[in-house]
Amino acid sequence: MKSFTQKLVVTTALVSSIALGAISAQAEPTAEVLHYWTSGSEAKAVKALKEDFEANGGKWLDAPVAGGGGDAQAAVLRSRVLSGNPPAAVQIKGLSIQEWAEAGALGDLTKLGEEEGWDDVLPPLLQKIVKHDGKYVAVPVNIHRVDWIWANPESLAKVDGEPPRTWEEFNALADKLQAAGITPLAHGGQPWQDGTVFETVVLGMGGAEFYNKAFIEKDIATIKSDTMKKVFDQMRKMRGYVDADFSGRDWNLATSMVMRGEAAMQIMGDWAKGEFIAAGKVPGKDFLCVPTPSNGGYILNSDSFAMFNVSSEDDKAGQALLARLILGEKFQETFNLYKGSIPARMGVPTDKFDECAVKSMVDLQSASESGALVGSMAHEIAASGAIRGAILDVVTEHFNSDMTSDVAVERLAEAIELAE
Ligand code: BGC
Repeated sequence: MKSFTQKLVVTTALVSSIALGAISAQAEPTAEVLHYWTSGSEAKAVKALKEDFEANGGKWLDAPVAGGGGDAQAAVLRSRVLSGNPPAAVQIKGLSIQEWAEAGALGDLTKLGEEEGWDDVLPPLLQKIVKHDGKYVAVPVNIHRVDWIWANPESLAKVDGEPPRTWEEFNALADKLQAAGITPLAHGGQPWQDGTVFETVVLGMGGAEFYNKAFIEKDIATIKSDTMKKVFDQMRKMRGYVDADFSGRDWNLATSMVMRGEAAMQIMGDWAKGEFIAAGKVPGKDFLCVPTPSNGGYILNSDSFAMFNVSSEDDKAGQALLARLILGEKFQETFNLYKGSIPARMGVPTDKFDECAVKSMVDLQSASESGALVGSMAHEIAASGAIRGAILDVVTEHFNSDMTSDVAVERLAEAIELAE
């Protein structure tokens, strides 16, 4: 059966694929850029790209869609493609890139990639994400690590607390904080945020093999296992650690709660660090970054821009310029310093990156060597849109009800089977 995106594109008769390397000299490079980077730090990061683009003669048409994790943007993108008018460049990720490429909606950047030597500067891991059938169809901007705890050191000090290294320690610390009248966990009750917390617990309690068996192989015995029940038990505990107003809260507002000491910790990817940095906070002093307990695991998320099929020479020139700039060494540094992530490109000097970023770089390397590196399910690296949606539905329903862990694993198995 064809996926939703395949059907969309097949029925809308889009322009045939284009070779983005060949651009006419007279074209005025133009790009409508669809993205969901609307928080303070995200806006700074995307502004750096816009300014670079404009300084190189490009005309930038900004198309932001608010909504963390990109679910609101995904709906806009589908309707734009359906109406035969896709934006030139779109911030999408992982399997979503593959699905749009499969549907024939993306331009071919391979010639440009050859000219620019992308094969030599991009780690194979990221090449796999942005290539489809051996052709470049997107360019990666960064690597975000998902499995982080952001903690307020003053809040921890109030209960003589140390950053947790196991989930038992996490619970013990959270209990102490709660007893002292401090909200242990800043959280925004939105499905993608619930899913973000959930996947860190899956990796932490089950390990990388379990994680991949559940999310990639969709192995039913794994999904219904006692370990998965323990994951849901932990999610139930987490539900008890959030404040009364968590429903619907945006992720960056949860980050502000930690900054202001209104909550002690947040479990969120390192785009949260961008917010601390934008507020002038110093890592190690004003806030702590500690991986969620997982015995050396690492959950990878990577943002990319995919170039959709466009017909005008201006748009094609805009796409080529944008793609070239994104992988530039200087841009990779500037952008990722704002964004909280680490560069997608190899060999970018690391001296300006803070201790959290350096830890991300070091841990990425060691997790990749030990086999503990996994792709994010909640951020579409390890799971397709349909599977991710099915998982998030159950995780969110469990979080917001008194569903038992036994029922949750059954529901998860059913939802995944239906989505396949
Ligand atoms: C994206 C980040 C973004 C975050 C919040 C993640 O899925 O990869 O770039 O900052 O969502 O919107």
